[in-house]
Amino acid sequence: MSTIRFLTGITPSGTPHLGNYAGMLRPAIAASRSREVENFYFLADYHALIKCQDPARVQRSTIEIAASWLAAGLDPEHVTFYRQSDIPEIPELCWLLTCVTGKGLLNRAHAYKAAVDKNHADGTETDDGVTAGLFMYPVLMAADILAFNAHKVPVGRDQVQHIEMARDMASSFNHIYGGEFFTLPEAQVEENVATLPGLDGRKMSKSYNNTIALFSSREQLRKLIGSITTDSRTPGEPKEVEGSALFQIYQGFASEEETEALRRQYAEGIAWGDAKQQLFERIDRELAPMRERYEHLVAHPAELEDILQAGAAKARRETLPLIRELRSAVGLRSLAQAPVAAKAKAARQALPQFKQYREADGKFYFKLVAADGQLLLQSLGFDAPKEAGQAIGQLQREGETALSALQPRLQPADPQLVLAALQQLRDAAE
Ligand code: TRP
Repeated sequence: MSTIRFLTGITPSGTPHLGNYAGMLRPAIAASRSREVENFYFLADYHALIKCQDPARVQRSTIEIAASWLAAGLDPEHVTFYRQSDIPEIPELCWLLTCVTGKGLLNRAHAYKAAVDKNHADGTETDDGVTAGLFMYPVLMAADILAFNAHKVPVGRDQVQHIEMARDMASSFNHIYGGEFFTLPEAQVEENVATLPGLDGRKMSKSYNNTIALFSSREQLRKLIGSITTDSRTPGEPKEVEGSALFQIYQGFASEEETEALRRQYAEGIAWGDAKQQLFERIDRELAPMRERYEHLVAHPAELEDILQAGAAKARRETLPLIRELRSAVGLRSLAQAPVAAKAKAARQALPQFKQYREADGKFYFKLVAADGQLLLQSLGFDAPKEAGQAIGQLQREGETALSALQPRLQPADPQLVLAALQQLRDAAE
């Protein structure tokens, strides 16, 4: 029985900073330890090529990000940790999805639309400087998710639209090829994660160039913290915590008591230099043990490579059987068996069909779909696939009696249509 699957991708196109750590790595790693779920974490290096065409930088960033996740405590024995470009089934699936995705859907993707809007504002041509890679970004992301039939995808708000597009592509594919090949994934937006301000008080982000690298050396860390913008209040003058980047970063690392203590010291007029020293000590206390492991891994990239290769082998145990099934479903299959299978499918398609599937809530559902794809009947969730199967059996055997007996668990579009379809199925079975 498969458990709920979480999947998260990280694009290796920069050096991880404290904001990435507090907002993403730390909560994701904590969750990977406590959850009774399967976790997939991967380095989205094909995605990196969309933004970054500097090969040395892509490689460097892949090393730094892989080392950061491991140093911060991700356990590759417990989760599946891999690199996107080690899984050839992902780009293959990307193409299969491309062919069931409306171009119009991609026209509406935020990243593409932002580029187009900017061109219009600048008075340049619509697609100026837009690569097909940027345009296709949501399809590649859908392939990442659907290749593992992930149920939940923890993402920031900006990525929710991409998960919705992945659902669209999954259901188009399921519909066109007449099967439940894909689970429909759901975005999981963490509301309570810390967003850290950067050195200048704006959100810490590599596009503002205001970041503090996660694994700076102790000395660099001290220097960077020293350069956080403060106001001109002198030692002894009470200071405001609101709008103080220094205070907010401290809060991102400290316990509630520690935060309260610093708040009092602000009111009492702590000198900026002393506040910075406290922030430095607090962050360094958390990072120093990880820094050692990080430095070791960055100095021994072959160890990282081994870990990622082992992760890829584990990941491909999932993707290989799926892609084999998908290839056959779309007609990329041995010529010896093609005509038979095609006939079987044509016969099947003329009849209504029961379809069983599992949703992201972990429950088992079925629906009855007419030959033309119209939804006739939708079940509520069952705890076990067997219960859903039994309900289907009952409907097939008993028709109307079963429909009223099971009524609390069913949502028929039109009971008459359902009964007609059930009759059609019984006739066909004779
Ligand atoms: N696009 C994501 C980002 O920039 C990274 C990513 C790629 C991803 N593929 C994914 C995230 C699949 C979740 C699932 O943050």
